[in-house]
Amino acid sequence: MLSIAIDGPAGAGKSTLAKRLAESIGFLYVDTGAIYRSVGLFAHKQNKNCECDQEVISVLPDLELTITHEADGLQHMLMNGEDVTFQIRQNEVSRLASLVSRIPEVREFLLKTQRNMAKQHSVVMDGRDIGTVILPDAALKIFLTASVEERAKRRHAELLQKGSQVSFEQICSEISSRDEQDSNRTIAPLKAAEDAIVVDTSILDLEESFQVLRGLVEENLGI
Ligand code: DC
Repeated sequence: MLSIAIDGPAGAGKSTLAKRLAESIGFLYVDTGAIYRSVGLFAHKQNKNCECDQEVISVLPDLELTITHEADGLQHMLMNGEDVTFQIRQNEVSRLASLVSRIPEVREFLLKTQRNMAKQHSVVMDGRDIGTVILPDAALKIFLTASVEERAKRRHAELLQKGSQVSFEQICSEISSRDEQDSNRTIAPLKAAEDAIVVDTSILDLEESFQVLRGLVEENLGI
């Protein structure tokens, strides 16, 4: 099995690009943010405060997460059997996911699930700590980034298209605080692995970014 790790901050285009890259080389795409989102959603539904480590940790024994890949080409998340694939995309869940992802017990709880996926399939896995912690032996590590303004612009356009009324300023401040929280936590902070190739997509559109990644795979893995 071969693994490609794609890490980087929110809104750099990781999920769209990782998914397309996986399809183009016949690997399984694994979106690890979805599992942190599911933990945040579950804790919230159990009326727990995601800012309180102990409250979140207390629900973990009652949570069974399953990742499936369906005919619609999407990765589906099942939370105790309930399909929450679309619920976890709500803007509020992004904040909950970032909060629960600070908790060492949560990261430990999710570690095996992620490593098992990479044992069973060749994967393109996207997240924050895939190259540094989850798959340190990945065949190729890419750190995908872009300026805060550019990432906020993209996220804003995406939300407007979905009918959301949120302002650009709000998105910009949410992205900055999520960057801050993800980069400064003590456990598995967002940072490029020493052997990662950094790709800045600030001045690239999606097609150009994809071509850069596709080129890196060809150059480094010969596929
Ligand atoms: O990629 P995303 O926006 O769906 O991720 C949601 C949150 O989950 C993000 O704020 C940080 C956290 N996360 C993480 O800590 N480690 C990962 N491998 C993936 C996501």
